[in-house]
Amino acid sequence: MEQIFITDVAPRDGLQNQQIEVSTEAKLELIARLVSAGVNSVETTSFVSPKAVPQMADAGELVPQVNARWPQLRSSVLVPNLKGLERAHASGAKEIAVVLSATETMNRKNINMGLAEALEVSEKTLAAAHALGLKTRAYVAVAFECPFEGETSLDEVLRLAARMHAAGAGEIVIADTIGAAAPAQVKERMTVIRDAVPLSQLAIHLHDTRGMGVANAWSALEVGVRRFDASAGGIGGCPFAPGAAGNLATEDLVLMARQSGFETGISLNGLLDAVAFAEAQLQRPLGGRSGAWLRRT
Ligand code: HMG
Ligand code: MG
Repeated sequence: MEQIFITDVAPRDGLQNQQIEVSTEAKLELIARLVSAGVNSVETTSFVSPKAVPQMADAGELVPQVNARWPQLRSSVLVPNLKGLERAHASGAKEIAVVLSATETMNRKNINMGLAEALEVSEKTLAAAHALGLKTRAYVAVAFECPFEGETSLDEVLRLAARMHAAGAGEIVIADTIGAAAPAQVKERMTVIRDAVPLSQLAIHLHDTRGMGVANAWSALEVGVRRFDASAGGIGGCPFAPGAAGNLATEDLVLMARQSGFETGISLNGLLDAVAFAEAQLQRPLGGRSGAWLRRT
């Protein structure tokens, strides 16, 4: 069976926008359950301004504990600038992700910089991370539609993806921030982008606002993408992108992949255990589209 690679972003994208405060211990327990389920790549946290995202204020305490407990785990952290990189490195982070959006307004709302500055800061942050020996990812957010500017230009998305590749990002992550894409657009855009970024370094990060997350993942699979972000229980959403619902649920992606002949290395029962824990923490029902069926008795 052919392998696909999943990074579970629940601890970062999933928890960055929750009303209920989740303790560092509970974040560690969520990661423990993801690891038990067979997840081998997690986006653990973000080193952003605690004023902007108080939910991630414990990043500096979380990372050393994750490194000590799971030295083999691929654990990345989101950093928006050099200050974030400095804090991430001081905590012992081994991999960072920069975040660049394909429109002027989304960059301003998210990281308080225009597009040109965000591009420059992302390139500088990647270069500094490489000099420190860290691995890197680069998000290209609002790669399909922007909540402020509407449909984004494919040329712009392609240009930014190529710049991130040229800057040495180990993985370029094309993100549907508000879950607005449909399978035909995923096919069209990923087919163009795969000419600029080798498939071995190309990932897709889907949100599931319109119920098309799994169909979009299938579309990406068909054009050869094998690297996916997803979030256990489907939790997630950028606080600065109005209308962003949760991420594509890891359990939906794993189920679809399994039924379609792809191996993920992830146990569905193990994932359900992680989802049940997240539900207890967040005090509301969670789960992807397949949740009710997966949990049938
Ligand atoms: P700013 O206010 O413009 O920053 O914020 P500044 O450089 O003017 O500094 C202001 C203060 O913040 C200073 O402190 C800095 O030291 C501090 P003060 O002097 O006032 O005490 N500061 C920081 N503190 C901690 N960590 C840092 C940092 N940088 C500066 N890294 C900034 C700019 C980028 C910091 C802010 O806008 C921010 O933190 N934004 C957070 C954005 C965010 O977390 N968004 C969600 C993640 S992205 C996402 O979800 C999309 C994704 O999932 C993909 C997709 O779905 O599309 C990845
Ligand atoms: Mg996201």
